[in-house]
Amino acid sequence: MAKDIYIGEILSNEEIQKEFFLMKVKLTSSFDDPLPGQFVMIRIAGLNDPFLSRPISIYSFSRRNNSCSIELLYRVIGKGTQILAGLIKTSQVEIHGPLGGSFEIDESKKQIIFIAGGIGIAPLSLLAEHLGRIGCSSKQAMSFYLGAQTADAIVGLDKINKLCYQIQVCTDDGSVGRKSLVTDAFQKDMKIYPVENTIIYTCGPKAMVKALSKILNGTKFQCQASLEERMACGTGACMGCAVAIRDNEGYLAYKRVCADGPVFDIRQIVWE
Ligand SMILES: Cc1cc2nc3c(=O)[nH]c(=O)nc-3n(C[C@H](O)[C@H](O)[C@H](O)COP(=O)(O)OP(=O)(O)OC[C@H]3O[C@@H](n4cnc5c(N)ncnc54)[C@H](O)[C@@H]3O)c2cc1C
Ligand code: FES
Repeated sequence: MAKDIYIGEILSNEEIQKEFFLMKVKLTSSFDDPLPGQFVMIRIAGLNDPFLSRPISIYSFSRRNNSCSIELLYRVIGKGTQILAGLIKTSQVEIHGPLGGSFEIDESKKQIIFIAGGIGIAPLSLLAEHLGRIGCSSKQAMSFYLGAQTADAIVGLDKINKLCYQIQVCTDDGSVGRKSLVTDAFQKDMKIYPVENTIIYTCGPKAMVKALSKILNGTKFQCQASLEERMACGTGACMGCAVAIRDNEGYLAYKRVCADGPVFDIRQIVWE
């Protein structure tokens, strides 16, 4: 579906941790309420370098009478995000969205498990907030596994602490939390979760999502994964973000992460 491009005004853009920024952008009230898992394409208004917008998940959303605002939690990794990090209050950004589909909610599943790698926490936070708000699950039944290479790359925990009861932090070097891959930590706990009543939501680096897919192979856990492919247009026009997906009938097809995703059933993703 075509979405409008909005000019947003930056209300704040703070470095909350080295290389990690939280940006709040004010938008007009015609911006649609985003669903958890949706993202925006963002670039500086009027600047053609870098030419392409960058996809960033919507981390939080609020609406007042005649305006609304979104928060974006992002990591500086290259030119585009470096430029975003340099923006000051009152700067203008072009926001295209909300784009993509959302995580599916199965109200019959009361045990919710989130598995995030690094900045993958961003879309899962909006989802946890949404599930809590609609009363789909209680805080006690929401477990969050968050992993990163080191303590420096663990962000967003304050919000998760308010939403989820059981939180497991893992780092590769043990600098905070358990010294473990986040997927291994989940695998150790897996048997405590009732399969029929549980749904898993995940977002993170490809290697993490792939490892989780291997762990879930042969189990009946339902799991939805949000993929972070590189994007060009963000609206389904260029096929630049295509991934191989096997449908329910077993047929292989290329799906666009921006327009057909970014959320897919983890069992349908074909890993090279
Ligand atoms: C649907 C979606 C949601 C996203 N949400 C967030 C978010 O909430 N917060 C956030 O910080 N990031 C998010 N990302 C990733 C973000 O879009 C990239 O980090 C950003 O586009 C990098 O732009 P850059 O110009 O700074 O880096 P570039 O100069 O374009 O790239 C720098 C390096 O990072 C690699 N890279 C670039 N983009 C990606 C990517 N998508 N996945 C893996 N490696 C990549 C490049 O190959 C290169 O090595 C999301 C991506 C998608 C597709
Ligand atoms: S980025 Fe162009 S089709 Fe997805």
